[in-house]
Amino acid sequence: MVRHLRSLLDLTAPEAQQIIARAIELKAMAFNAQPRLLTRRSVALIFEKPSTRTRVSFATGVSDFGGSCIFLSPEESQLGRGEPISDTAKVLSRLVDLIIIRTNYQTTIEELAENATVPVINALSDLYHPCQALADIQTYIEHRGSAHGIKAAWIGDGNNVCHSWINTARLFDFEISIATPPGFEPDQHICEVNQDRVTLSHDPEAAAENADVVITDTWASMGQEQEKLEREKAFKAFTVNRDLMALARQNALFMHCLPAYRGYEVDADVIDGPQSVIWDEVENRLHAQKALMEFLLTETGNV
Ligand code: CP
Ligand code: NVA
Repeated sequence: MVRHLRSLLDLTAPEAQQIIARAIELKAMAFNAQPRLLTRRSVALIFEKPSTRTRVSFATGVSDFGGSCIFLSPEESQLGRGEPISDTAKVLSRLVDLIIIRTNYQTTIEELAENATVPVINALSDLYHPCQALADIQTYIEHRGSAHGIKAAWIGDGNNVCHSWINTARLFDFEISIATPPGFEPDQHICEVNQDRVTLSHDPEAAAENADVVITDTWASMGQEQEKLEREKAFKAFTVNRDLMALARQNALFMHCLPAYRGYEVDADVIDGPQSVIWDEVENRLHAQKALMEFLLTETGNV
């Protein structure tokens, strides 16, 4: 059966834990010892939105495995001229071994996966960013040993990265306290099905109190550029600053998926300070995604 990563809910808790353990192993492995799973094989990367980290980390990971990447943007492919996503899925399945997609709509990923006979990986949609959350939990586990039973605090927009953190809380068994301005809460359904571990409020201080990790993201995600000024007003009291970090546990980590806007969602002295692990999060995109690709290809029986 072909396995996809449309969201983290495509993984069981033991599978997610196995992927993170393998990511840590791959990170420690010499380059020459890396599994050459993709030798003389290719991977399609469809990017309908900008990217620095995701594109580079996937390209590097595929290259580490001996394969090559083909990048497709709507402007440079037939996607932009209306070729159906279902036909694109069938075309790419005949030509490549893996499809990685960053798109505006989660429904596009669902449709692509439904019609593909090779694994499809969600590289960010309006609803989720599962690869980021995998790298983030790897980072937490590397720094603190385990995420079991911790309190994570999400401060700011209830967006795609927040939704994937909620799913991570479910897979790795911890609590997440989310503080957003009114009207910017995470998806109601995602919260409802995880209500045993999600606390929602409009109070950043309550969310940050005794947290083991404090996480934030941009106030205006890709595609929300028009709302930037309006959002800046709504989010004014949600900057992660030193006072907010002081409410968290003394050894709390600070995380941000990047790109970051200093002085808005986070102050420079926090993101560039000693509690911040943002550069580890970046590097772990590579290792977590390699472990993920290996898992999906192996489970699908394509290696
Ligand atoms: N964090 C993240 O996904 O970054 P990019 O948009 O640069 O890929
Ligand atoms: N929430 C952000 C994440 C960027 C990696 C966005 O969707 O633009």
